[in-house]
Amino acid sequence: MTQAHPAERIVVLTGAGISRESGLETFRDADGLWSRHDINDVCTPEGFQRDPMLVSRFYNGRRAELAHVEPNAAHRALAELEQAARDGRWHGELLIVTQNIDDLHERAGSRNVVHMHGELRRLRCMSCGATPEWLDDCQPQTPCPACRHPTLRPDIVWFGEIPLHMERIQAALSACDRFVTIGTSGTVYPAAGFVAEVRDHADTLDINLEAPAIPALFDRTLVGPATRMVPQWVAEILGS
Ligand code: APR
Repeated sequence: MTQAHPAERIVVLTGAGISRESGLETFRDADGLWSRHDINDVCTPEGFQRDPMLVSRFYNGRRAELAHVEPNAAHRALAELEQAARDGRWHGELLIVTQNIDDLHERAGSRNVVHMHGELRRLRCMSCGATPEWLDDCQPQTPCPACRHPTLRPDIVWFGEIPLHMERIQAALSACDRFVTIGTSGTVYPAAGFVAEVRDHADTLDINLEAPAIPALFDRTLVGPATRMVPQWVAEILGS
């Protein structure tokens, strides 16, 4: 349900940093996933072609982690902002565009969420295109529940592949009044380019443990852990 004329339209882009305090690893921090796994082996179509068992084990491990983590105060604050719009306590509209493949935004209660890099809890059949929800392990020989062919892969966008839902994302970016990045290093495109696209018509804010790579791209930065800074920002929005 969207309001006829929301007072303000906010797009929030989240990255691995928003889930860090829930216990999920980021990619490029010192102890991040890419310090122990080669992107070319586990996050490219060529890597999957070369060794589907290695890639299946990588994503099976990350999928299994979801059962042991919870949304944190940052996820919950964004869900509260969306709920305030539904309750009429905030005359705005919020869309979360996430680069994350975890389900913590949804488990915190957010509904307007777009996973541009796919989702851990979903597979994709390379024969029939089915995208079944999947919570367990998956092996290369696991049959597709729809067509029975052993041609399932993680429903994840790998390097060299086209991110999902880009039309919807571009439309939201064109119409937004505020654009907020939370917990992303701003190093992977197209997501890293969104802020440059909206700067001429939206107020831009970066929330991160560190200052952004290109501070001039942002009107404002909030430096600190997401679990402290995101609730603070949401309180500002609801108070304004
Ligand atoms: N609070 C806020 N920010 C944090 C926190 C925290 N508690 N912990 C880490 N960060 C920040 C880091 O400072 C860093 O800028 O989160 C960011 C994580 O950056 P990356 O590990 O590069 O993750 P992300 O930006 O999501 O990566 C983008 O790259 O490998 C691909 O597909 C993968 O979606 C991913 C994309």
